[in-house]
Amino acid sequence: MEISLLGTGLLGAAIGERLLGSGHQLTVWNRHRGRCAPLQALGATVAASPAEAMAGAEVVITVLSDGPTTGAVLLEQAGAALSGRLVLQVATIAPEESRELAAALADRGAELLEVPVLGSRPEALAGTLQLMVGGEAAALERARPVLAVLAVLGGEPRLLGPVGAALTTKLALNQLIASLTHSFSLSLHLVQRAGVDVEAFMAILRASALYAPTFDKKLAKELADDYANPNFPTAHLRKDLLLFLQTARGLGLETEGLDGLAALLDQATDAGLDELDYSALHRLTAGA
Ligand SMILES: NC(=O)c1ccc[n+]([C@@H]2O[C@H](COP(=O)([O-])OP(=O)(O)OC[C@H]3O[C@@H](n4cnc5c(N)ncnc54)[C@H](OP(=O)(O)O)[C@@H]3O)[C@@H](O)[C@H]2O)c1
Repeated sequence: MEISLLGTGLLGAAIGERLLGSGHQLTVWNRHRGRCAPLQALGATVAASPAEAMAGAEVVITVLSDGPTTGAVLLEQAGAALSGRLVLQVATIAPEESRELAAALADRGAELLEVPVLGSRPEALAGTLQLMVGGEAAALERARPVLAVLAVLGGEPRLLGPVGAALTTKLALNQLIASLTHSFSLSLHLVQRAGVDVEAFMAILRASALYAPTFDKKLAKELADDYANPNFPTAHLRKDLLLFLQTARGLGLETEGLDGLAALLDQATDAGLDELDYSALHRLTAGA
């Protein structure tokens, strides 16, 4: 299949590599062209603009940082090239932004399916992402052969409802990433500062119903205070938590318990943590 990929950042590049490895024709575009080089070396064609990347593509996949960026690239930069296209939007954006984008694409004769994913670069490269799909029935029908192709990224995509439903689900999951990372970090600091043996604490935790695998996944980084080479940076975790809070408040939920975590993550920029692995949140919970 001829696929156009807009955005070859951390996740986009891994998705592109997996698609190329599965024998698909890929044309890629990225704002900073240099970031397309690894995919070019694997056989992708590099386009000079979003419109050029879309020409001739059977499907357009967007993996850009956020909603405003995705809107600007598709609606302002791609222009007339959008007409007749099927766009699979992968980035984590607000459900409301997704609905607005779908409506704006429809005005330009294009169709949007939101396809947020759970998992990161390793899962994209291994084809074990969890794919969630939100979209209208007509777009879904048209996209069926394309979604079958996407299964190479992580098996059967899970249909959650109309546009907005998959992104709502994605935000519900990412709120757990933020909250679990935060609560584990605080407990880890507590036992360390009190002089309790970390392995003894972990042994009890691992044998309990409280345990989540993500704790061990991040433990070594937190003990070494080394958050280099991120697959998912702190800035994106903050973005997703803010999107969750905005969406939850819109649905009338009481979010006060989580507002403090958002305020804490606000400090990540000044602390130089935005580009590091999101478990760098552990530095913020260290306090004085
Ligand atoms: N990384 C993960 O594990 C993961 C997992 C699930 C979902 N996601 C979501 O997927 C999306 C992409 O994540 P990522 O980790 O790949 O992020 P990333 O490495 O920061 O890449 C962001 C992409 O957006 C582009 N971009 C940013 N601002 C732009 C602008 N003003 N105009 C045009 N392009 C712009 C970047 O282009 P440049 O290279 O030119 O800056 C890059 O292609 C995010 O919504 C993230 O939350 C990520």
